[in-house]
Amino acid sequence: MKNILHISASARAEESDSYRLSQQIIAQLRKAYPSVQLVSRDLWSEPLPHVDFQYANALSRREGGAPHARGLSSLDWSDLLIEELRAADAVVIATPMHNFTVPSVLKAWLDHVVRIGVTFNATPEGKVGTLRDRPVYIAVSSGGWRSGERARQPDFLEPYLRAILPTIGLKDLHFFSLQALAAGSDATTAAQAAVELELARHFAV
Ligand SMILES: Cc1cc2nc3c(=O)[nH]c(=O)nc-3n(C[C@H](O)[C@H](O)[C@H](O)COP(=O)(O)O)c2cc1C
Repeated sequence: MKNILHISASARAEESDSYRLSQQIIAQLRKAYPSVQLVSRDLWSEPLPHVDFQYANALSRREGGAPHARGLSSLDWSDLLIEELRAADAVVIATPMHNFTVPSVLKAWLDHVVRIGVTFNATPEGKVGTLRDRPVYIAVSSGGWRSGERARQPDFLEPYLRAILPTIGLKDLHFFSLQALAAGSDATTAAQAAVELELARHFAV
């Protein structure tokens, strides 16, 4: 493993729970691959534009669209982000749950990398990904429970990522969760202990 693409989708920067969890995952990967390089894509410190007219038209095979006034167009961003993804041997995504699903900044990233004719092809059998598979580690934090008997909310985050990432060829998905972080310090300590056990089991040689 030569390089890891680290995507962080929390507004809370380094105080973020999902970011901290993703750092624990990266630390485990570094243990196994000491010379691995990290490429960081912080979706809050450098927000991506939403897809623009030209990009939406190009993807729906319509002509036209005014050239982007200044800076990178959506198509330029898409090329760059797809290149970053192609170059990665592993991907680590840090994401909180926002309103039952992924934060809008992560959705914007997905809209740029899930691209017909580039990262997937539409076939009579359905969408077929074109990216080489590689491990994707997803660190998820949530204020409440989002899975299991104690969940009192729907979870559109994990099922969504389990559907959209394989669409582009990324099937080797590993989820790690910190749940119920808004339920007080005992719950947070328990969540941290549970995820540390999971990490130790997963990365045990
Ligand atoms: C806009 C917004 C929406 C949220 N929606 C949910 C939600 O639907 N379910 C939930 O359990 N927590 C929700 N939360 C709480 C966060 O998931 C929780 O605080 C998480 O630990 C934050 O992780 P972070 O520190 O990585 O940003 C929401 C927080 C924000 C800011």
